[in-house]
Formats: sequence, structure tokens, C-alpha cells
Amino acid sequence: MCGIFAYLNYRVPRTRKEIFDTLVKGLQRLEYRGYDSAGVGVDGPRKNDNGDNVNICLIKKRGKVKALDEELYKNDSIDLDIELDTHFGIAHTRWATHGEPNAVNCHPHRSDKNNEFVVIHNGIITNYKELRKYLKSKGYKFESETDTEVIPKLIKYVYDNSENDYVSFSTLVERVIQQLEGAFALVFKSIHFPGEAVATRRGSPLLIGVRSKYELSMEQIPIQYNSTGHFIEGIQQRNFRNRVDSTVALHSVSDRKAVEFFFASDASAIIEHTNKVIYLRDDDIAAVAQGKLSLHRMSRCAGEDPNRAIQTLQMELQQIMKGNFKAFMQKEIFEQPESVFNTMRGRICFETNTVVLGGLKDHLKEIRRCRRLILIGCGTSFHAGVATRQILEELTELPVMVELASDFLDRITPVFRDDVCFFISQSGETADTLMTLRYCQGRGALTVGITNTVGSSISRETDCGVHINAGPEIGVASTKAYTSQFVALTMFGLMMSEDRISLQKRRLEIINGLRMLPGLIKEVLTLDDQIKTIASELYQQRSLLVMGRGYNYATCMEGALKIKEITYMHSEGILAGELKHGPLALIDKHMPVIMIIMKDACYTKCHNALQQVTARQGRPIILCCQDDPEITKNAYKTIELPQTVDCLQGVLSVIPLQLMSFHLAVLRGYDVDCPRNLAKSVTVE
Ligand code: UD1
Ligand code: M6R
Repeated sequence: MCGIFAYLNYRVPRTRKEIFDTLVKGLQRLEYRGYDSAGVGVDGPRKNDNGDNVNICLIKKRGKVKALDEELYKNDSIDLDIELDTHFGIAHTRWATHGEPNAVNCHPHRSDKNNEFVVIHNGIITNYKELRKYLKSKGYKFESETDTEVIPKLIKYVYDNSENDYVSFSTLVERVIQQLEGAFALVFKSIHFPGEAVATRRGSPLLIGVRSKYELSMEQIPIQYNSTGHFIEGIQQRNFRNRVDSTVALHSVSDRKAVEFFFASDASAIIEHTNKVIYLRDDDIAAVAQGKLSLHRMSRCAGEDPNRAIQTLQMELQQIMKGNFKAFMQKEIFEQPESVFNTMRGRICFETNTVVLGGLKDHLKEIRRCRRLILIGCGTSFHAGVATRQILEELTELPVMVELASDFLDRITPVFRDDVCFFISQSGETADTLMTLRYCQGRGALTVGITNTVGSSISRETDCGVHINAGPEIGVASTKAYTSQFVALTMFGLMMSEDRISLQKRRLEIINGLRMLPGLIKEVLTLDDQIKTIASELYQQRSLLVMGRGYNYATCMEGALKIKEITYMHSEGILAGELKHGPLALIDKHMPVIMIIMKDACYTKCHNALQQVTARQGRPIILCCQDDPEITKNAYKTIELPQTVDCLQGVLSVIPLQLMSFHLAVLRGYDVDCPRNLAKSVTVE
């Protein structure tokens, strides 16, 4: 995920080298979030008559922060030893969503060739296409493929068209964010406001750290309210006042005392500098001018807190990076309400019940004409194919094969020009999947990627595809990528069936299910304590079987993979229909068994399997729907889940198994994020 860090020193002399070091260090603290390029924006050497710097220098680089750091010292025109009494520098790590990872798409983005306004952004601007069109019509030239670039262009447009010269920086930003839809945390810098900073957020986190050798005079900062009208599309605001004078000094005496401000998207980049922080809320605008911080909002809502507290962070760096979580895997499990939502964001319209995957819409005709769909992946990504095969068969009315990439190649499987091959991969770099992609391409099939990593090999080499937008996954055990792959593939089925009259009722049921899904995932996550208790009974076992069928067979395989991968226990996902063809021999009162029995078309058959297990003194732990007394009475223990549409139930049923594997691994004393012998991205065959 992208990372924001910015540093303002006011009357605290720092050499440019020290400023660079602070910015780079800030970015390094955010590296754990995953990124593919990084950039900084600092004052350049040119000055005006007042001695203010009047140009901004942007340095951006694809790859690691280390590469950016090296780049900073290559620029001969920048004097590193010069001391700057007051300066504002911004820095960013980018995780590509709009356009390839490269220096042009990397942040900071700029308003124009003179870098009058520059901005760093986390989040997604969903109406960027409309804004881009509007700004292009006004003569603005765009250089990147990003959604972000509309923001610096827009602020310049607002600046150039403002009613007088006294419009403050924060007012310009206020006018800009009125036009933005989507999620953002933003930090602005401008040559028109030297030594000033403006930051704001909506939906993406942003906080400000304050450091001063003088004691801070207040524990909270009052918000200043000011209502403004829309700027673009005619209704220009009147009644505007310049706010520079209405700022609040953080010291007892407001006589311009030395102070430093740190802006960041998470506390890990700030904590080594100061533990005094202010968390911004949605639509807060924070401005620093003359070393004073002020907070603004457009208008005050009833019941709203009119102050923002200056909090004292009591945490260690490591703790902050993972939040309150013990491991990235755990953090990623708990992120699933948001990651699943992000997969759907801007693609499903719940008002019109339409689904548009931008990356596939131009290929839909060709896909509809194909002979069969082949879903190809490895490990968890393969399981996402298994999980969605049935609903894809139903919605596309096409034969669907699901294949392990390595096996597909081993078999030299016949592939034809009228096949459509899907390559499912979180990293987009898995060697087996990539080789299979090239193999299928060589045979003329249409290739479709389902990837989480923009700019990855699979994303680039496929003919078209879908970015699942789950955000970076750091834990080796894949969790949120699985549920997002699941949702993305289901959305593909919905898109394919849009004009099938006979499928409309089913489509609506699924779209409605998707709408409710993030909320239901939250509900499932509340079972964590119960699952931990069950894990504490199981962790010394050597083996754990997971059984189910139909839509939940994939959950069994995925759950078992999670368990073996991080707990090193033997675990097997068993198709309940296969029980009497062999696995039943394993069942006795000592063998722990997890069974998945949901209220769907396989319910009765699963119930039969349950009886076979209990008849052999098996003591099943059952994942079932809420209010199912029939199951509860036959279970050793139950984990009750909310019910959703049958084809989406697997998104909910996999979560207790992700949590279970996590707790088992912790109890067994293993490193959850880095299991032995495994790598996050398997780039060798
Ligand atoms: C695009 C933007 C998205 C934005 C949306 C708004 C990008 C990367 N995505 O998303 O951030 O919110 O417009 O309209 O700019 N592709 C492959 N193989 C893959 C994955 C994708 O070839 O494995 C291709 C797609 O066919 C498409 C492009 O990459 O041409 C972007 O895909 P995706 O991000 O899924 O497209 P949108 O959802 O339209
Ligand atoms: O990056 P990919 O999705 O292509 O990776 C495929 C597998 O290596 C991966 O899912 C692996 O099975 C996970 N570690 C499982 O948690």
C-alpha cells in the first residue's frame, strides 16, 4: 500500500542532507507496507527577493527506497550542506494501482512543468476520469497514467481562477477536496506558499507528529469551521476569508518558536521523532503556516467533537507497524472487510445492479464465444479457482477446468485458440503460473490475469485481466488475496451473465450477497476468541482433517494448506463425498476433524458424512450456519457463521480456518509470517 511521509522544520536549521535523511528514513519505516517506487519533493536552489525558495525539485525512482536514496545524491545542482532554517519536504512510496510502476507515475505529482503545486496521495480517486476530462478541456496536459495527477492540476486550476490573491493554501485544498470522490490522504506543497504545508484525508489514514523543545501549550486543537460553496461548475464561493491569521500556535507564547511537524500515513514513520501526534479525521484540513498548525472543516455537524486531541503514543515501532496485531498474517486476516470491499470498489454499482470490470469489458464478446474457461494457479490461488468454478459454470454456461500450473505443463495439456485461460496469482510472479501463461499464449488462447500486483509479469503479459486491489500481502500465508480473488472471479461470472434473462434472479441474489459481504466478514472476525480457545485444545495434535463438499470443498483445501504451511502439522482437505472411498479409515476418537456443513444444496449429504464420523467416535468441530440445532447436537464443538448466498459462503467459511491456523502456529511457537522453507513469491519452477 502507498505510504506518505512529510517533514516541516520551522526555525530549526537543518542541512539539506539532514532533510533528505529524515525523508528517506520516514519512507523506510513505511517499506513494510509494500511498494514499487518512491519519490521526494523538496525546495530547489532558486530564491526570490525575500529569500524564499521558489522552485521545487522532484526526485522519483522505480524500485526500492534505497535506490531513491542513491539517486538523491546524484543530483549535482543540489547543495547538500546548505542549511535551511525553514523547509517543507514531502515523500511517498507508491503501490501501483493506476498505471505501471515507473518514475512518471510515482509521487509526488505536479501541477505543471514549474512544479507550482506538488502532492502525495494514498487511496483511489474514483472520479478521476471526469476530472481529467474537465481539466484537459481547460488546457491542462497530463503526463502520468495515475488518478492522483488530477489533484495537483485541480489545485492549480483553482489557484489560477481564485477571486483574489489572498486565498490561503488550506482554502485551495478545501475547494479541491470538494470535487474529489473516493478515498484519499493528501499532503500538498507549493512554491506559492513557501514553508507551508496542507494535509487532508477522507477514508485513508493520516496523522501529524509535533516536536518542539518548548512545551506545547494545549492538549487539543480547536477546529475552525468555515462553510464554502462549490467552486467548479459555476457556483463560486463567496464569503471567503483568509485564514492565515486564525491559526493556533501550539506554544504558550505564539512568537514564532522553533517547531517540527511530521506528516505520515501511519505512526511507524513518526514515532522515532516524537510521540505527540494528532490523528486527522475524514475531511479535516490541517495547515501549517509560520510554524503554526491550524485545523479546518467545512461545517460543523451536530454532536461532532470540535477539537482534535494531541495524543501521546506509548507504542514501540514494531508494534505500530503491525498495529495491535502479532503478525502481518493476522493483520491481513482482519483487513478482509476492507480488502474485499476494495476489490468491488468502482466495479459493482449496487443501485443499478451492474458489474463492470474495466480490464475485461472490451474482451467480453470474445470470452463469450470461447469453447471453455481454464483457471490456472498454484497453492492458494489455485484454490480460488476451485472455489469459484461452480458459480462460473452456472453463470457463464461454459465448461470450466481448474488446473494446477505445474501439472498443466507436465501434462503438455492441449490448449486451443478458442480457449480462455485465467492466470490467478497474488504476486503475479509465480514461475509455474508464468510459464503456463507463456505456454497458453504460444497456442493462441486468450489469456486473462487475476493479479494483485500491478506491473507484475503476469499482469503485463496477459492479454487482459483484473487487478484484485487487495493491497500488498506481506505474510507468506495468503489470506486476503484469496478472498479478493474469490470475489473478483465471482464478479467476472456476474458480468458474463448480465444479459441472460433466466439468470437475473440469481445475479441479483449474488450482487446483494456481495453488498453484505464486508459486514458479514466483520461478524465472522468476532469469533476470534472462540477460535483461539479451540486452537488451544488442538495445538499439540499431529494432524488435523478438514472435510466438506460442494461450494465449501475449496475452503477445506485452503484451510488445510494454511494449517500445514504455518503450523507444520499434517493437515488434509477432504471432499466429504470421498469419505467412504478411503479417508473414513482415519477416523477415530483421537483424530481431530473439522467439518464444514452449511445450509446449501449439499446439506443433507454433509449431514450423512457427519453421521459416519460420529458413528466412529469422531469428535467433529463443525463450521455451520447460525441456528442449526440439528448440527449442534451432533457436534463436539461448533463455530457458527452468518449465512450468505451459497456461492459466497466460502468467503466466510475460510476465515475461521485462517484464524485457526494463525493461533495454532502461535501456540506452537512458530514465526507466522515466515514459515520454514517457504518464500512469499516463488519465482523458480
Ligand atoms: C482501472 C484502474 C483503477 C481505477 C479504475 C477506474 C489501473 C491499473 N487500474 O481499473 O485503479 O480505479 O480503472 O476506472 O490503472 N490487466 C491485465 N492483466 C492483469 C490485470 C489487469 O492485462 O492481470 C489489464 C486490464 O485488462 C486493464 C488494466 O490492466 O487493461 C487495468 O486493470 P484493472 O486495474 O483491473 O482495471 P480497472 O478495474 O478498469
Ligand atoms: O503469488 P501467487 O498467488 O501466484 O502464489 C501462489 C502460491 O505460491 C501461494 O498462494 C502459496 O500457496 C501461499 N503461500 C499459500 O498461503
